[in-house]
Amino acid sequence: MPGYELIGKEERNAAMKIFDEGGVLFHRSFENIRKHFYVREFNNKCQKYFNSSHCSAVSSGTAAIKCALKAAGVKSGDEVVTQAFNFVACVEAIVDVGAKPIICNVNENLHLDIDDLKDKVTSKTKAVLVVHMLGQGGDIYAIKEFCEKNSLILIEDACEAIGGKVGPNYYGSIGDIGIFSLDFAKMITCGEGGITLTNNDIYGTYIKQYIDHGHENNPDLERGHDNRVMPGFNFRMTELQASIASVQLDKLEYLVDENRKRYMILKNIIEPISHVRQEYYSHSGSYDTFIFKADDKSIKAEVIKKLFELGFGTKILPDAMEWHCAAYWGHALDDHEVEHSNKTLKLLESSVAIPIFVNNTIEEYTSLAKAIQSIIKS
Ligand SMILES: Cc1ncc(COP(=O)(O)O)c(C=O)c1O
Repeated sequence: MPGYELIGKEERNAAMKIFDEGGVLFHRSFENIRKHFYVREFNNKCQKYFNSSHCSAVSSGTAAIKCALKAAGVKSGDEVVTQAFNFVACVEAIVDVGAKPIICNVNENLHLDIDDLKDKVTSKTKAVLVVHMLGQGGDIYAIKEFCEKNSLILIEDACEAIGGKVGPNYYGSIGDIGIFSLDFAKMITCGEGGITLTNNDIYGTYIKQYIDHGHENNPDLERGHDNRVMPGFNFRMTELQASIASVQLDKLEYLVDENRKRYMILKNIIEPISHVRQEYYSHSGSYDTFIFKADDKSIKAEVIKKLFELGFGTKILPDAMEWHCAAYWGHALDDHEVEHSNKTLKLLESSVAIPIFVNNTIEEYTSLAKAIQSIIKS
């Protein structure tokens, strides 16, 4: 589960170090009173970790989506296809750049349905925004191939699956532009924050400038005399956020490994008796959520009761569906898109998502799995 469970002395020390070194919280300038450039160092560290040529730390995951859409040149009159099982930020960002969000459904395993995607693409489609929900990735290479054939820009929202991979390649590094969120509920966190990743020099440079009022950030010029190459915005991350995020990144591999152990306990016990959400071949997710089907309403209610009794609760399904299913987003979508999303709503309504917490022991997950097993079998 999220990095907040492991927030401790390493994060505190990292933050205190900034104050001991002069307390500069801005990403550049003040060279005479600072020893580090934490945002810059965090960007470099992410580039190496995720094997991506350009990473830009930004103020939130939502800001990161907007940056990706802007870099992709999405504008008024364009359509962007995204999925019905999602977070509302994706639709908001598409609307914010003046484009129209088009919704495709997810399949039985709650991944973007490629057949539906194919039906949704029109001559106005500029980009596809696939979202790797709750720790597992969509069929990203198949989607990439489709996008390449149809000259569409592929944006990968990996906010909910940081650390997940296909083979050796991290989610977020496979599409044209990827994004992460570092908000309080994510695999790694600094309270609020985001990252954009891309191997495309034009997109990478654009994002670096866009997030900082169009500043070129020429190291040879004073900030006040720096060139502005285009109108941008302020989506900058602070030094404080970057110092904490950097420590959290050091914990990511451990978090994924520990998540996986707990996830596998649930999988081994529940899979023989219920449909468990399946990963695509050669994917390995971030494993911070375990999802299975509970078609029978009374079984579902009993399982949820047990999850709360044992102190786990549920994660998004069913407790935050209104934020995560496009069938509820009449305030931002055309009626047709809302209506179309009902297929996804039905799939989500019959699913239960169990959060994986690394601070809960393997034994606790074993007892939980057995308790669910006996409810399903009863
Ligand atoms: C899939 C997805 N995309 C985008 C976001 C937005 O991230 P942030 O909260 O950092 O703005 C979230 C956050 O919950 C998310 O889950």
